[in-house]
Amino acid sequence: MLGAMPDRPLVAVICGSRSDLPALRGTFDVLDAYGIGWEASVISAHRQPDALGRYVREAEERGTRLFIGAAGLAAHLPGVLASLTARPVIGVPLDGGSLGGADALYSIVQMPPGVPVGAVAIGSAGAKNAGHLAARILALADASLAGRVDAFRAEQAAGAEIDLDPRA
Ligand code: RP5
Repeated sequence: MLGAMPDRPLVAVICGSRSDLPALRGTFDVLDAYGIGWEASVISAHRQPDALGRYVREAEERGTRLFIGAAGLAAHLPGVLASLTARPVIGVPLDGGSLGGADALYSIVQMPPGVPVGAVAIGSAGAKNAGHLAARILALADASLAGRVDAFRAEQAAGAEIDLDPRA
């Protein structure tokens, strides 16, 4: 495990390679902004399948409610996560390869029925949205977090009004 907020980590963020970590800054920042405890690990679905299975079992025992998997190229990590847990999995396609992330996007979004992964956008927008989507899912059972999600939306709406002001 690379690091974690001191609070109980409700979200486990896993990426397929150390080279993926910079792309996940937005995920960590958004989770931090909502005050959601998280932990992050590098485990490759292709190179370390057994370690990934062990990690998911142990994370569930520690109380992880939701998994975020991020990978590039033939990005099977989120799908394999969804095969290992019944908890929600969000997949972030990363754009490290020569196909600009379309390879990872297709790998993540084209899951067979019954093994769902919530796919977000390629790259940094998706990394941030993985944090926001995690917050919205966890807010269903957490009134205080739901308030923070509403506050973010209100701030965003106010910002959008300013941006759209023709005098600005
Ligand atoms: C994927 O292959 C990883 O998620 C990463 O995006 C890509 C390249 O991995 P490395 O060769 O840098 O470890 O599995």
